[in-house]
Amino acid sequence: MLSKDFTQSVFILIISTIVVASFSILVLIVPNLVRTDEIIATSLAKPLTPLELAGRDVYISEGCHVCHTQMVRGIEPEVKRNGRANKEGDDIYEFPNLWGSKRTGPDLTNIGRKYSEQWQRIHLMNPRKVVPTSIMPAYPWLFTQVLSGDDIESKMRVLRKLGVPYTENEIDKARLQVKGVTKGEALIQYLQSLGNDTASDQEH
Ligand code: HEC
Repeated sequence: MLSKDFTQSVFILIISTIVVASFSILVLIVPNLVRTDEIIATSLAKPLTPLELAGRDVYISEGCHVCHTQMVRGIEPEVKRNGRANKEGDDIYEFPNLWGSKRTGPDLTNIGRKYSEQWQRIHLMNPRKVVPTSIMPAYPWLFTQVLSGDDIESKMRVLRKLGVPYTENEIDKARLQVKGVTKGEALIQYLQSLGNDTASDQEH
């Protein structure tokens, strides 16, 4: 089955694809799923409230993570610019994590401590109002589209299966907290939560 020329062998192509894919799964996916008791016990992360969780979904659906990372590396220039560096336990409730890989805009790991809600609202409606040279798109429609909250309970239940400690009581009340809120306001609640759980940890 093996031909002399490796580039012409479908068999080798399939085997090497499987080897490379398995390696990627091993180094990229498996570590994400490993949450040892020690990591959980020392983590400062707090589960998002239902409204923040709904805002996180807006963040994902609008592709904010395509231009913004949430991953401060532990090197001095990074920490000076973006605040506290990420630690292993920070993402134990993040499914999927939003580390991102491209920084067209600044890192948002600790953005929740930087601006007021009012600033965030103006910036999302039209970034040029507060940062005249900004190339970030405007998102005015987020403040006219209202969330129904219909799917929030099932999302929380799935997250609970993955290890986020939501109580039955919190899940029961979730829909009413989300229903009728605009996508923009939920997104702002999410942005304002970023970096607050780890704010007490001054060690970089
Ligand atoms: C096309 C790339 C792009 C996309 C998509 C994008 N941004 Fe931005 N963002 C930027 C750039 C560039 C800046 C820096 C200029 C500014 O502050 O507007 C920025 C700045 C920000 C800031 C202020 C950061 C700081 O430290 O001052 C926040 C908050 C923010 N973006 C949130 C969002 C959210 C939420 C979304 C999704 C709804 C989003 N961005 C989508 C490019 C983008």
